[in-house]
Amino acid sequence: MQNIQTYINTHKDRFLNELIELLKIPSISADSTYKNEVIKTAEAVKTQLEQAGCDTVEICKTKGFPIVYGEKMIDKNLPTVLVYGHYDVQPPDPLNLWNSPPFEPVIKETDSHPEGAIFARGACDDKGQMYMHVKALEFMTKTKQLPCNVKFMIEGEEEVGSENLGDFVKANREKLSNDVILISDTGMIAKDTPSITTGLRGLSYVEVEVTGPNRDLHSGLYGGAVANPINVLAKMIASLHDENNHITIPGFYDKVEILSEAERAEMAKAPFSLEAYKKALDIDAVYGEAGYTTNERNSIRPTLDVNGIWGGYTGEGAKTVIASKAYAKISMRLVPHQDWKEITQLFKSHFESIAPKGVTVKVTPHHGGQGYVTPIDCIGYQAASKAYKSTFGKTPIPQRSGGSIPIVSLFEKELKSKTILMGFGLDSDAIHSPNEHFGIFNYLKGIETIPYFYKYFTELSKQK
Ligand code: BES
Ligand code: MN
Ligand code: MN
Repeated sequence: MQNIQTYINTHKDRFLNELIELLKIPSISADSTYKNEVIKTAEAVKTQLEQAGCDTVEICKTKGFPIVYGEKMIDKNLPTVLVYGHYDVQPPDPLNLWNSPPFEPVIKETDSHPEGAIFARGACDDKGQMYMHVKALEFMTKTKQLPCNVKFMIEGEEEVGSENLGDFVKANREKLSNDVILISDTGMIAKDTPSITTGLRGLSYVEVEVTGPNRDLHSGLYGGAVANPINVLAKMIASLHDENNHITIPGFYDKVEILSEAERAEMAKAPFSLEAYKKALDIDAVYGEAGYTTNERNSIRPTLDVNGIWGGYTGEGAKTVIASKAYAKISMRLVPHQDWKEITQLFKSHFESIAPKGVTVKVTPHHGGQGYVTPIDCIGYQAASKAYKSTFGKTPIPQRSGGSIPIVSLFEKELKSKTILMGFGLDSDAIHSPNEHFGIFNYLKGIETIPYFYKYFTELSKQK
């Protein structure tokens, strides 16, 4: 690609500063206090897309936060790449664990990023990765090297389940028509080991409520004589895994995709150090489903995890009380062929059925979505593979991820195109955690690699 490295070298300070400005706006979609900030971020993204060379950019209203849509159509006989990303971020709490405020970006060195990383909520997930595409477009338009058409769809509700994006996609199939969908919202194995994400897990997220007596009770006067909702909830949750850490919900595994020994052997070739993994997390042992490796447990196997549990007295000191209610938020990560609505139903029936007498149980589904697998024999994958080869000098490793971007399966269904996941984050970048960051090396390498994807995708489409 003519001049990409020179272009990046000339403009890298501006590339960093523009991202820093975007990271200063607290676009927390989950917290209504930040509503105006989320909308302000959509406007900032619109301005940047215009400056990068889109011919039209609109802010599309939804029932929730707006979707920024932009396009540059050069020739309708050429292929079209649709870029998806999100400008909303996770809440930053707990704030006291941040070494610098989450919306005051700073550049600091880390062990994984000796050349520096930008610390801010959203740096990696997903403002930084989304912005790589905006800068790659700028390069291609300013140097007249855009080889095909491009559309951008950047949403503001990914972190809260993309509730309005599905309707938008269904209502705008024509406008969004494309030959491939390109997303940078995942990770890579290591800075010197490029990888392409070939799978995302599905998700079912539920909340449960256990109610015992009609009011909080004195734990001496009533303790031992009535069901304590917190004790009961803890027991019910514990029963959801057996001694091999298999999930006990009847039917849960019925549709789970079974990988062949050959596929598992192929997966096991990806570089991975269990020692380094444990060290990075300060744990003395890993934990999980019997019969599977760590990388299998967090990608090709389904899971059930409590994300939050509360009830009773949690203030200072001690209060002797039996709470009337106990609650938990539970997520299930799903793998190909499991249907998230069916799993949600199985969970609900099972959880209600194991409630002992003396309590009532309510299960409320939140959001969910299907998993996704990108075939490695499609031209989108091949174009991405060649792009990494050009900029990293190595063929990337296909790798299934444990995370979820539930809307991707809907894209395939409604728009009939494959999604290519070119993630540039590292596992150590602390997405969703305090001190989230994104390596400057990764950011610039992303900007460098993306234009090659366009080039090779266009070439491979012509050969088809
Ligand atoms: N970008 C992440 C998903 C991700 C991260 C996938 C790293 C693979 C590797 C996305 O923003 C996210 O956080 N998704 C949520 C689901 C969503 C419905 C809230 C998730 O995976 O928990
Ligand atoms: Mn994301
Ligand atoms: Mn996220």
